[in-house]
Amino acid sequence: MCGIVGYVGPRQASEILINGLSRLEYRGYDSAGLATLGPSGLEVRKFAGRVSVLRDSVTDSAVAGTCGVAHTRWATHGPPNQTNAHPHTDCSGGVAVVHNGIIENADMLRRLLSSERHCFRSDTDTEVLAHLVERSSATSLEGRVIDALSDVEGTLGVAVVDSTDPDKIVVARRGSPVLLGIGDDEYFVASDVGALLGHTRSVVYLSDGDIAVLTRSGYRIMDRWEQEQVRPVDTIEWDLETMALGGHAHFMHKEIHEQQHSVANALRGRLLPDEGRARLNGLNLDAEDVAGIKRVVLLGCGTSFHAGLVGRHLIEHLAGIPVDVDIASEFRTRRRLPMSGALTVAISQSGETADTLEGLKAARSAGAHVVGLVNVVGSTIARETDGGIYLHAGPEIGVASTKAFTSQVVALTLLALHLGRHTGLSVEDGRAVAKSLAALPELIEECMTVERQVRRVAEDCASAQTALFLGRGISVPVALEGALKLKEVSYIHAEGYPAAEMKHGPIALIEKGTPVIVLAPKDDVFTKTVSNMQEVKARGGRLIVVTTDGHDELDELADELIRVPASSPLLSPVLTVIPLQLLAYHTALLRGCDVDRPRNLAKSVTVE
Ligand code: AGP
Repeated sequence: MCGIVGYVGPRQASEILINGLSRLEYRGYDSAGLATLGPSGLEVRKFAGRVSVLRDSVTDSAVAGTCGVAHTRWATHGPPNQTNAHPHTDCSGGVAVVHNGIIENADMLRRLLSSERHCFRSDTDTEVLAHLVERSSATSLEGRVIDALSDVEGTLGVAVVDSTDPDKIVVARRGSPVLLGIGDDEYFVASDVGALLGHTRSVVYLSDGDIAVLTRSGYRIMDRWEQEQVRPVDTIEWDLETMALGGHAHFMHKEIHEQQHSVANALRGRLLPDEGRARLNGLNLDAEDVAGIKRVVLLGCGTSFHAGLVGRHLIEHLAGIPVDVDIASEFRTRRRLPMSGALTVAISQSGETADTLEGLKAARSAGAHVVGLVNVVGSTIARETDGGIYLHAGPEIGVASTKAFTSQVVALTLLALHLGRHTGLSVEDGRAVAKSLAALPELIEECMTVERQVRRVAEDCASAQTALFLGRGISVPVALEGALKLKEVSYIHAEGYPAAEMKHGPIALIEKGTPVIVLAPKDDVFTKTVSNMQEVKARGGRLIVVTTDGHDELDELADELIRVPASSPLLSPVLTVIPLQLLAYHTALLRGCDVDRPRNLAKSVTVE
């Protein structure tokens, strides 16, 4: 998952391209490059490292030109270095390609092209595209790109320029997100809206199989038979300010502190407190559809999968409908049994995660009704599903997902309430859920007061080799999420576990001082969780406990007791996860880690 940007218009391209890349850096940040078409033909500059390296190394004069493409990389084929950075060129050095995705038959194509004396400079799959364009005898660049793609298998979002066809960018989409930006007398291409903000709010989302041609005089979209395709022009709802740090040191910290507002946005206009109902018109599910639901299948990856695990508790408890939760990559490779009567929910912050996208396609082909629970408006999963729920959490730029998790849990509670009120949940119970949901934004703000204490706890954890996160019932997914956050930003090995499972093995990991973070809200599994804490204590583990206000039953047992406001037990994950997000953030800071750009990761995983 990489980020691509392109520009053609009256202005010098390089600054626009580099600014665009810096807003796409969360998609991949191990190397970056650009190519411009100027008075001296095609100029290519590329470097290992962050976009800032490219920015510092490129002067406008060196890469003059009003047309160009650029790329920030997350390596899949070939180590992250200058040679493997994009753009990649053909033998003549006149064609330059930037690509997001994976060419699955690249090895075969490389052998074929090498046998025809094409010279390869990099280890990448992408470079075959440049040579395939060079190999085509079609007269126009778009014709040559279409030719090249007819031999290619795999996923791609690609942009191509050619010094023999200046002031033109040819773009193609097959599986990886690509959109066009329509400006005043200038045109852009990008992997997502972030790169276009500040230039235009008018965007065109390309569909799979689309080929677009951008020139100074306009753009056109066609299919591989060069038949014109019409795509709607949408308007972006986010602006530069929402994409900025807003006085925080890191996006992760900003997004943790935005949760009062992101959760309020997820609830806005969707609660009918008097009727004890949720209004989810975007789902396109009428009473008859709901009556036909025999089971719910929740699909997602990483944090979204963890939100799905909370969703199971919510839907089974409030709607009494059986729920399966699956990691999308595993779901799609298992034998597919018929799924009629199954409502499948694809949970994804970015709306671009390839495994979740393919998972929902597999569910649909097995007869399931598929909806999305997505944050990014206009993303592929949003456009692929028959309806859905937008989170409206605003852009999530920190690679470690935080506010999306709490908004996903809130949206899943709204879904559970919506289904529940169709399957027998009483108006009183519905009103109680609606009341608890409405109280959340304030409770979240109150939760932030634990930050000073958590920072102190982080000082103990920062030198740890390993950490364990434990919970029971609806807190198990929170334990998994806490472990994931700590792993991905501080690189400390951490495991989340159902507390009762400890004695079946993982308890062997505990020795004197091992940090064991326990989620213990005052709910119906509290007492059992306390017994598990005593097992940990007996082996010398350091008990860091997150519990709810209003009791003193853990004052003696816990080494560190972090209190969050009490709420409905069904909603405790929205509050108990916050100290864990802060713990991961502050532990990573103390270890000098790059909190917003953790190593080896990227924000949206658009490759399988
Ligand atoms: C979470 O912090 C990670 N960034 C990652 O696990 C993420 O949740 C996963 O890749 C799913 O992303 P999505 O919600 O955009 O589909």
